Amino acid sequence: TKIGVVGVPLEEGQNKVGVADGPAAIRKGGLIEGIKAIHEEIDVQDYGDVSYTPLVDNIHVPNMKKYANVAACNQEVSKTVEKVLRDHRTCLTLGGDHSIGIGTVDGHIKAKKENVCILWVDAHADLNTNKTSASGNIHGMPLALLAKELADYWPYLPGMDWQKPIVSIRNVAYIGLRSVDSYERLIIEQFGITAYGMEDVENHGVQNVVNMALEKIDPNRTRSIHLSFDIDSLDALEAPSTGTAVRGGLTLREGIHLVEQVYKTGRLGAMDLVEVNPALGSAEDVKKTVEAAIHLLLAACGYSRRGITPKDSDYV
Ligand code: ARG
Ligand code: MN
Ligand code: MN
Ligand code: MN
Repeated sequence: TKIGVVGVPLEEGQNKVGVADGPAAIRKGGLIEGIKAIHEEIDVQDYGDVSYTPLVDNIHVPNMKKYANVAACNQEVSKTVEKVLRDHRTCLTLGGDHSIGIGTVDGHIKAKKENVCILWVDAHADLNTNKTSASGNIHGMPLALLAKELADYWPYLPGMDWQKPIVSIRNVAYIGLRSVDSYERLIIEQFGITAYGMEDVENHGVQNVVNMALEKIDPNRTRSIHLSFDIDSLDALEAPSTGTAVRGGLTLREGIHLVEQVYKTGRLGAMDLVEVNPALGSAEDVKKTVEAAIHLLLAACGYSRRGITPKDSDYV
């Protein structure tokens, strides 16, 4: 297995300070060492953090806060993710807030010539446009920017010409939803977007939900899977250090199982792990949240909770 790790210290897609320190906290928590320890043949390369120069200050789009930062950063994110995938590595991107999903999905789609499907694991739908968003925070908008079907609902976006809305929302599925805004709900229903909320996880179990989701968004089992994992999909008790925590979410066990299941398809192309904010909560909260993030990322690299099978020679 070949893995590439990318950090994106971006927090301008929402209004709480600290989520830009997510990549550093996850690395400091031992991610790279943990990946190397999975087995000897694993080959992990850390591509470092993405850096960018914000677009000129006078670029503004109505109800899109810090647009100039988010747009410029995502262009670099897209290029970096595309490069990691062209290096034949599974790309793990550490956020940062979820607005970085614009760039990670764009890069993935460019590298795989559009043959991509997206699992968006989140308490939220992140499907607002600048007209429907109550907050103006771009981390609530990435899927609406990516979706072909919603292209007409956006004004001209200066400095975003590199980003083509080339994802069909037929190839997107949600898992873990429990806080959806009214216009987001309307779009999900109007376009028939595949969406499994917490109620569905209760009714069917996470294993069936993942299978049903993949069946809908990739019936031929040929697409590269983009797993965009917002840590707030987990219950607030499991991952308290995040900006928009919602109670009643996935357990860490369910989250790990979901990632393991996607890994086992052999088609996981890229995973985002976003919204870890080490500035929120107590030291214990932060530790818990970072550890949860690392467990999820290791599952994406093939870490098995069954332990490693010793080689014959190890017994001697
Ligand atoms: N729906 C809300 C908004 O548009 C919350 C979005 C939260 N997004 C996230 N990536 N945590 O602002
Ligand atoms: Mn900052
Ligand atoms: Mn999100
Ligand atoms: Mn969320």
